[in-house]
Amino acid sequence: MSAKIIDGKAFAAKVRGQVAEHVARLKKENGITPGLAVVLVGEDPASEVYVRSKGKATVEAGMNSYEHKLPAETSEAELLALIDKLNNDPNVHGILVQLPLPKHLNSDLVINSLDPAKDVDGFHISNVGLLGTGQKSMVPCTPLGSLMMLRDHLGSLSGLDAVVVGRSNIVGKPMAQLLLGDSCTVTIAHSRTKDLAGVCRKADILVAAVGRPEMIPGDWVKPDATVIDVGINRIERDGKTKLVGDVQFESAAKVAGAITPVPGGVGPMTIACLLANTVTACCRANG
Ligand code: GUN
Repeated sequence: MSAKIIDGKAFAAKVRGQVAEHVARLKKENGITPGLAVVLVGEDPASEVYVRSKGKATVEAGMNSYEHKLPAETSEAELLALIDKLNNDPNVHGILVQLPLPKHLNSDLVINSLDPAKDVDGFHISNVGLLGTGQKSMVPCTPLGSLMMLRDHLGSLSGLDAVVVGRSNIVGKPMAQLLLGDSCTVTIAHSRTKDLAGVCRKADILVAAVGRPEMIPGDWVKPDATVIDVGINRIERDGKTKLVGDVQFESAAKVAGAITPVPGGVGPMTIACLLANTVTACCRANG
């Protein structure tokens, strides 16, 4: 193995420490405690785990956490009424609606009912447009955490060839915008891309966000490339449940210059950026 392992857990701990210091200052000097409301509809076990860890991290940073767990059969009108209440609550600075929502709810409509200034996920259409035009916005947490690790490892990203595999609104598209903002030459690849292997082999920066376990083998990685593995996939191997990324870690680590592990890479940075976005929203709301 030759690649440097990018330790997302350690980096996230540092960011969370900085967030906690900022929160302590806001409390002491301004008498304000940032608050994050997390809304979960239904009982998806993976979502429940995520929501629990988000709430715990929020409290550990010294912020207020407001958890709203609603039954799976909640109507759109009921969910929109809750969001309206949270939009107008001065103690709530950030709102996150955990996705996916049950099928009978229109996710776009729900997300676009958030106050964009409280949309700490950066999924509201206003924030998407602001990011795409290089204006001040809320930036989606997973791409933001990935960008922070890339900058930390590489310094300037200017002029590098970046390939993002995956075109989701949550990760792929905003990741591409952020890399473009840092002056990379960006390709968004996906399941229909012709010669996906060849496209990946050109990448100085390879971001894998497809949600398919170990889809990208080491021989698709350019020697010395920086690989960010966004995938978190649960698989059964040797009779055990295991978490793996979208990249075949063992083979990719022999070729890459640096790589994020799964778990312990992008995942912890996503939560750290959620906390940072909540503090940002709080500061903007209070001038
Ligand atoms: N589901 C999976 N990832 C995310 C995320 O980053 N934010 C929200 N709200 N839901 C998710």
